[in-house]
Amino acid sequence: MMQFKSLMGIVSVCAALVLSGCNGDGSSDRNNQVQEKPKLQPIVIQGALPVESERMASKLENVSVETIGGWKFWKGTYKGYPMVVSKTRMGMSNSAAATAIAIQHYQPIAIINQGTSGGHDPDLKVFDIVLGKYTTNIGAFKTPNKPIGGGSNALEWNEAFDVLPEDESDPEPIAIRKFEGDKELLIAAYKAKVHYSKGQVVEGTIGSADTWNNELDRINFFHTKYGTSVEEMEAASVAQIAQQFKVPFLGVRILSNNITNNGAYDPATGEACQDYALEVAEQYMKAKADAK
Ligand code: 5AD
Repeated sequence: MMQFKSLMGIVSVCAALVLSGCNGDGSSDRNNQVQEKPKLQPIVIQGALPVESERMASKLENVSVETIGGWKFWKGTYKGYPMVVSKTRMGMSNSAAATAIAIQHYQPIAIINQGTSGGHDPDLKVFDIVLGKYTTNIGAFKTPNKPIGGGSNALEWNEAFDVLPEDESDPEPIAIRKFEGDKELLIAAYKAKVHYSKGQVVEGTIGSADTWNNELDRINFFHTKYGTSVEEMEAASVAQIAQQFKVPFLGVRILSNNITNNGAYDPATGEACQDYALEVAEQYMKAKADAK
């Protein structure tokens, strides 16, 4: 009798286990197997140069490489999330073209432009990272009038030219336009901060132009008038295109050099920023997947 009872007990426990394993809604399957991630559009992470993009590309899984015009894209997954790494090449035009192509071709959920930069803020050191609360063009001006022989002094170029004015009937729109970094991308960038130990991570303004400034007075002019933390050659151009397509955007820039405090150029910064950007992308995609 005892034996029969304990046998029945085992049978009923087994039945319960079997039933809970086939409860019709598949929830047990979901718990026991590797969770399939909800389908998301890919996030695009850009870097201008090979030292600013190839490390991220090497960390993708299921990669396919696409070259469109002069621009290279690696499409794959990172930790199960769809991602596209884009090598934009240097400068405003290249990065604008790479951005427009990426948006049309991959319909990304968001874009991160990352890479090296030069410090404008003497408090920032090589390996510090600036999260672009704002990104602004520091290469567009209306200069003062001067006669032949009157010379040229860039420190007198006090009127910023807004190349994306709301009022397109004004041929000389004067304003410093700042593109705001996307709030959700910024939150993801803050989450990534805990994993970064090579320098500090701060919010700031990224200034972009097809110029490498080595005049300290000029750098100080941008720092005080535009509030720039760093300069580089792509982020504001990408922000300008992303805004017109309404794609969330964030610039993430590591200082590879800072002549305001004798911070010598360090090429290892390119790889450090790629690791940080991948972490930001992962955090952003995780938040988007959890919200689905
Ligand atoms: N000024 C301008 N661009 C810089 N870069 C790194 N440091 C600077 C700097 N001090 C980045 C640009 C460009 C390449 C020259 O490196 O974004 O892609």
